[in-house]
Amino acid sequence: MPYRLKQIHCRPWKLSGLSLKLIESHYENNYGGAMRRLNAITEQLESLDFASTPGYVLNGLKREELVALNSTLLHELYFASLGGEGVPIEGMRETLSHHFGSYEKWKAEFAAMGYALGGGSGWVTLVYIPRDGRLVNQYASEHSQAVSGGVPILALDMYEHAYHIDFGANSRAYVDTFFRNIDWQALAERYEEASKVSPPRPVVQAEYGDLPKIAVEEVKARLASGAPLQVIDVRPRHFMSRQQDIAEGVTWRDPERIREWIGELSTAEPVVVYCAYGFHVGCNTAVKLREAGFDAKYMDSGHSGWKAIGGPVKLATA
Ligand SMILES: [Fe+2]
Repeated sequence: MPYRLKQIHCRPWKLSGLSLKLIESHYENNYGGAMRRLNAITEQLESLDFASTPGYVLNGLKREELVALNSTLLHELYFASLGGEGVPIEGMRETLSHHFGSYEKWKAEFAAMGYALGGGSGWVTLVYIPRDGRLVNQYASEHSQAVSGGVPILALDMYEHAYHIDFGANSRAYVDTFFRNIDWQALAERYEEASKVSPPRPVVQAEYGDLPKIAVEEVKARLASGAPLQVIDVRPRHFMSRQQDIAEGVTWRDPERIREWIGELSTAEPVVVYCAYGFHVGCNTAVKLREAGFDAKYMDSGHSGWKAIGGPVKLATA
C-alpha cells in the first residue's frame, strides 16, 4: 500500500528570510523525492519472495526503507515547525525551562547543535520521551537516527539542500533564521499531545498491587545519605550459593527463616527487602514484615537492579 504525500504545513510565502524558491525546492525535490523512493521501495518489498531473497538484498531494502520513511516524517515535521513569528509563547517557555533549566539554555543547546552540523548534514530535533516524561534535544547525522519510542515535536533540517539556495555555506545564519520562523503555537500543541502518550507498561504484579515499593535509585541515595534504613537482601539460599556478591551495607537473611531473624529488626526504622529481580520472594517477605508491624517496602528490580545502576557490591559471606 503506498504512502500518501502530506500537504505542507507552513505558508511558504510568509516565511521570514527563507525564499519561496528554497522551500518549494525542498518540499518538491527532497520531501517529495523521499516519498517517491519510499513508495518504490515499498512496492519492491511487497513483491519479494522472502524465502529466496538473499539477506543482503533484504537488508539493503529495509535500510533504505527506514531512511526514506524517516526522511518523510522528519520533513513533514520540519515544515510544520515553520510558519510562526518566532516568539516563544509563555507556556512553552515554562515547559522548556522545566526540562532544560531555562528557555535560554534549551535554545543555546539546540542552536549550537545546528551550528555544529553545518557543513555536514543531519537533523536537530526536540523529542519527548514517554518513558521518562522528558524532553531532549536529539542529534541525528542521518534520517534514520531516532530516539526509540520518542515523539519528535520540532525539527531543524541541517542538510545542505535546506539552506544552500539562500545562505550558501552560511549555515549559522540559516539556523538563526529558523528560530525566527518557529511556529510556537503549533509546537505547544504538539507538546501537549506528545505529553499524553503513555509510558511503556511497567511490570505489573497484581497480587502485590497495594504493597509499597521503593525504587532502587532511592535506596542507593538513602544509604549514601546515611538516612536510617534497614536494608535486607532476601534472595533464596540457592541464589546466594550461585551469586557470590551482595550490596554493600546490606545484610542477607534467609527468607525461609524469617521467624528466626525478624526479632533483630527495629520497628523504629523503615525496612527495605529485596530478592534477585523484584518478584515474589522479596514481595512476600515485605508482606510478612508489614503484617508484623514493620514499615516495610520491597525494592523494585532487586539485586540485579542494584547492580544495573552501579550500586557497590562486595563478596557475600553468608
Ligand atoms: Fe531536507
